Amino acid sequence: MSFQGQRYDFRDKTGDYARVADELASLLAGESDLIANAANTAAMIFDALPDLNWAGFYFLRGDAHSGELVVGPFQGKPACVRIALGKGVCGTAAARRMTLVVADVQQFPGHIACDAASRSEIVVPLLRAGALLGVLDLDSPRLARFDEDDRLGLERLAQIFLAASVAPSSGESLQRPK
Ligand code: SME
Repeated sequence: MSFQGQRYDFRDKTGDYARVADELASLLAGESDLIANAANTAAMIFDALPDLNWAGFYFLRGDAHSGELVVGPFQGKPACVRIALGKGVCGTAAARRMTLVVADVQQFPGHIACDAASRSEIVVPLLRAGALLGVLDLDSPRLARFDEDDRLGLERLAQIFLAASVAPSSGESLQRPK
């Protein structure tokens, strides 16, 4: 397989997100492995969208009350591995089950700085039938990089990823060893 990903300038954000969404749906077609699809989704987003320094996934381990987010496939610098629900931008978006757009991460109380270059961030919760699976997280070195069009576009990409992917059975889960 040779992936010919496009780079877009996103001057027409709605149109370019629609084109990226079509590309992502084609890329994931015929594959349902959650980790494989998360890896390709992160790689595609990081490749296609301008001004990112990190793009990837955190997945919920344990239940939606006492569980925590654990880093999954991503592109960018090595990241914090575990984030408690309610902590940082990721844990807050997960706990509230809503997308958070943070124009200036230094103004977000409790922001977790994995890469000191990050200036703004967007976190999209991954919800299937109301159940929290994790989050899709993008960081930018540019202040106020993400807006409402990015929220809509990235929520659509998250939906495409979820629709294509089946979570591994519990026997394959990545719980902390006892
Ligand atoms: N900044 C995030 C932590 C994850 S990294 O950005 C990859 C947060 O505050 O939750």
